[in-house]
Amino acid sequence: MRGGRFKIGRLKHAQAWAAVSDQPENDVVHTPPRIFNAPACHSAELRIWVLELSTWVLMDSHNNVSIEAAPFINFSASSLISTSLVALVGALLLAKVVQKMRLKLPPGPFAWPIVGNFLQLRTGLTPQTLAAVAKKYGDVCLLQMGQRKVLVISSPAMAKEVLQTQGVEFGSRARNLVFDMTTGHGQDFVFADYGEHWRKMRRIATVPFFTNKVVQQSRLAWEQEIGQAISEITAMPESTTSGIIIRDRLQLMMYNIMYHMMFRRRFSGLDDPLYVQLMKHNRDNHHLAQSFKYNYGDFVPSFKPFLRGYLKDVWAANQRRLVFLRDAFLNERRKQTGQKIGVDFFLDAHLKGEISESSVLYLVQNMNVAAIDTTLWSTEWGVAELVNNPRIQRKIIDELDNVLGKGVPLTEPDLPRLPYLQAMVKEILRVHMVVPLLLPHMNLEAAKLAGYDIPAGCRVLVNAWGIANDPRYWDKLEEFNPDRFLDNNVELNGNDFRFIPFGSGRRSCPGSIIALPLLGLVLGKLLQAFEILPPPGDNKVDLSSVGSQLGLTIAKRSRVVMKPRGM
Ligand code: HEM
Repeated sequence: MRGGRFKIGRLKHAQAWAAVSDQPENDVVHTPPRIFNAPACHSAELRIWVLELSTWVLMDSHNNVSIEAAPFINFSASSLISTSLVALVGALLLAKVVQKMRLKLPPGPFAWPIVGNFLQLRTGLTPQTLAAVAKKYGDVCLLQMGQRKVLVISSPAMAKEVLQTQGVEFGSRARNLVFDMTTGHGQDFVFADYGEHWRKMRRIATVPFFTNKVVQQSRLAWEQEIGQAISEITAMPESTTSGIIIRDRLQLMMYNIMYHMMFRRRFSGLDDPLYVQLMKHNRDNHHLAQSFKYNYGDFVPSFKPFLRGYLKDVWAANQRRLVFLRDAFLNERRKQTGQKIGVDFFLDAHLKGEISESSVLYLVQNMNVAAIDTTLWSTEWGVAELVNNPRIQRKIIDELDNVLGKGVPLTEPDLPRLPYLQAMVKEILRVHMVVPLLLPHMNLEAAKLAGYDIPAGCRVLVNAWGIANDPRYWDKLEEFNPDRFLDNNVELNGNDFRFIPFGSGRRSCPGSIIALPLLGLVLGKLLQAFEILPPPGDNKVDLSSVGSQLGLTIAKRSRVVMKPRGM
């Protein structure tokens, strides 16, 4: 009887969660996942959880739990239960040994039942922690995070193997349970599995965004937008006294640059009502999706029910943002005519039946994070390093004056003639890599790597930051020093695997063609206009960082003084 109840409870639980993960993609602006309507029943959840602990032993090599385990609960006498548990633990150990004997898995720390290495690494899979793990277990190592296997890659040779040589095999994306919800199971571009849909998305987005022609067509608008930001910063009285939080104005500038490329839209200022709404949606979504708070439910699916409220919030925030993007931007654009611009390529593809409207929305959503946040965070790190290194500011200014002439405004075509400015951009991306583990890759099928067996469905993290900060490949790591790039011929084209802040191969960042000139232009133009200084009473900007699911950002909203040159 009890066994039967448990079995039903467990099945209900499984079905409810299947409901969350099987939401059809056209749910984008429609009904919430069914689980959120289900009545809460914590005691049942707890019982299910206990049952799942005992069924863990029957997981197969892909960690699927067999429902056949349920009859174990039929035993009523406590002695029988404890005997069963001992037998289970024995069976568990035996199963592990057999599995290990069958497969040659990469080395890794001892994994505890159920939680694996989660307790050892519960503060998050940061690049620093993973670099330490690699030091102990090697450049290819395997972590068991709850029921998810995480493959950590920590050398240029192995990165090349995963990203380039076996780029197809490892070319899918691992989505966690939140990204699964927010991308409609990979209906977007960034988190799509490797295959037909991803190829379509990449092709559709390339023409309006990722070519040299687009850069040439857009650069005047970028230069104007940067000029506008500089004028407004100059006009702020506190920029020369107590200092300003430059992030806010740079963020508006980045949004204007990308929203111009996508929609030919410009926000008039930080208090533009549309901008205020957009910021709120993006902030809400960022906090929920990028937090480490939900890792436990992602790694140990049995814990998912405890995330019911959290996932409901994620779902609701994401729906609100998608509806807002559709109504305020896509539908507005549909009413306009004239020259074809960025988003029209997505809309046309939808009209031709190539992609769904949801995919258009997800693509727009991708751009907010993949394009704007990354470039903004890198610029912010750059400004902070400029404040802390007046010698580097001086060198960049000298280069600009010598190459262009004093007072001649920097433009995009000048950038190749400014090696030191370019070296500065590289050093920012090396030391403060904003996507330090790249985006998680995944092998859909079982694979072989460096003689090891790699089970299907591994989350593959390439520690690009770890490699770019590894004393085996770089000298004097403790120094922030752009000079290192002047004579080492390390290029940012993805072919030198010591330095891959944009990844490499099929899933590499297509946006580097935009991000690199933008970073050079913004930093160069700011320096032509201002001497950038710490606020009164400080002599440095605090460089502490804060990690999130995918990114690494500067933790504090520091003030900086922007003193116009010649003052
Ligand atoms: C400093 C700025 C940027 C950095 C550091 C950066 C970094 C990255 C990284 C590391 C990846 C994943 C590579 C991999 O997993 O192998 C990526 C993917 C991507 N980035 Fe960027 N990115 C930046 C700017 C941009 C911009 C400006 C855009 C668009 C205009 C963009 C669009 C994308 C897209 C669409 C993908 C997904 C590609 C795919 O999955 O096929 N990124 N980026």
